[in-house]
Amino acid sequence: PLSTFPGIEKFKGRYLHSRDYKDARDFTDKRVVVIGIGNSGSDLAVEISQAAKQVFLSTRRGAWILNRVGEQGYPMDIIFTTRMKIFLKKLLSSSMVSDFMEKQLNTRFNHSHYGLKPKHRILDQHPTVNDDLPNRIISGRVLVKPNIQEFTETSAIFEDGTREEIDAVVFATGYSFSFPFLEGCVKVVENQIPLYKFMFPPDLEKPTLAFIGLIQPLGAIMPISELQCRWATRVFKGLNKLPPRHDMETDIKQKREAMAKRYVKSQRHTIQVDYIPYMDELASQVGVKPNLLALFLTDPRLALEVFFGPCTPYQYRLRGPGHWAGAREAILTQQQRVVKPLQTRTVDEQPSATAMPLIFKLVGAMAVLAVIFAYM
Ligand SMILES: *[C@@H]1O[C@H](CO)[C@@H](O)[C@H](O)[C@H]1NC(C)=O
Repeated sequence: PLSTFPGIEKFKGRYLHSRDYKDARDFTDKRVVVIGIGNSGSDLAVEISQAAKQVFLSTRRGAWILNRVGEQGYPMDIIFTTRMKIFLKKLLSSSMVSDFMEKQLNTRFNHSHYGLKPKHRILDQHPTVNDDLPNRIISGRVLVKPNIQEFTETSAIFEDGTREEIDAVVFATGYSFSFPFLEGCVKVVENQIPLYKFMFPPDLEKPTLAFIGLIQPLGAIMPISELQCRWATRVFKGLNKLPPRHDMETDIKQKREAMAKRYVKSQRHTIQVDYIPYMDELASQVGVKPNLLALFLTDPRLALEVFFGPCTPYQYRLRGPGHWAGAREAILTQQQRVVKPLQTRTVDEQPSATAMPLIFKLVGAMAVLAVIFAYM
């Protein structure tokens, strides 16, 4: 809430929450403070800095900034969202994974030099993704500042004692959600909502209500929402049954505790899910989770792409209710389709070999299988 910042009621300039932001031109030639370095805050700082005289980006904690355009120009989620990476993450400790990722991000730009380095590790917070922010910082259009201590009529005083004259403040301090029209059905307290697998209120007489997309995933939200819909319609039709109320409540409690343990305490981390584990969880309910072992035995080429390639939603169309005959072909050709829209100018080049020759992939996959068997 805006009122928690001391002195804001005295401030004579314009101030607003990020949800009311419409156009950077409203800030032309102004000195603007953006508070918060989540995805909204960093996007707004970048955008407003195109029109404003000066933007100050105020952050209490700092943040690790990930880029959308990853190695070799592939979209970051194409690189990150693979079963292989999930498998590796399970084998390594979270601090090892953090070390590795932080080192990569500091190679792009040193977060200490840019005033952004947080105390927390990269995996402790929902990621901020922004390709432009470092460019705006090094060109001086965005200045990173600490938390604001108080506002005066015309200025902001920061916790390090510095003071800046400002014309406008944008609070990108996050969102809270509520469902006043469902009072009596579900109760939201500080963004905590008790839903079985983030979808079903556990205490309804009949499962006739499902929430779709009320999640903050590490990964894409649309494929998750689609799979949620596939499960919800089956539950409504009576094809799938929900477990007894007590079991659902236990599951809700376990998920809440795991989240509290994993993330920095914040209203921001109440509906976090990991893309592949959560998709698999939903898929198990519907009966469409790919069977990797069977795939390796019957269709190794497809299995390799399912394991090493991006976990696109076609994987949940290979079998079971709603399976699609085109799924296999779609998975095997997906990498070409990622770069296809970029090929608006023909480049003269011999088609290069894939980054990892098939033989290495096969040997790698066998090693992975051996490890899986050893664990079973
Ligand atoms: C980043 O800068 C800090 C402060 O100058 C330095 O201590 C640190 O080693 C640098 N990190 C990397 C990865 O170069």
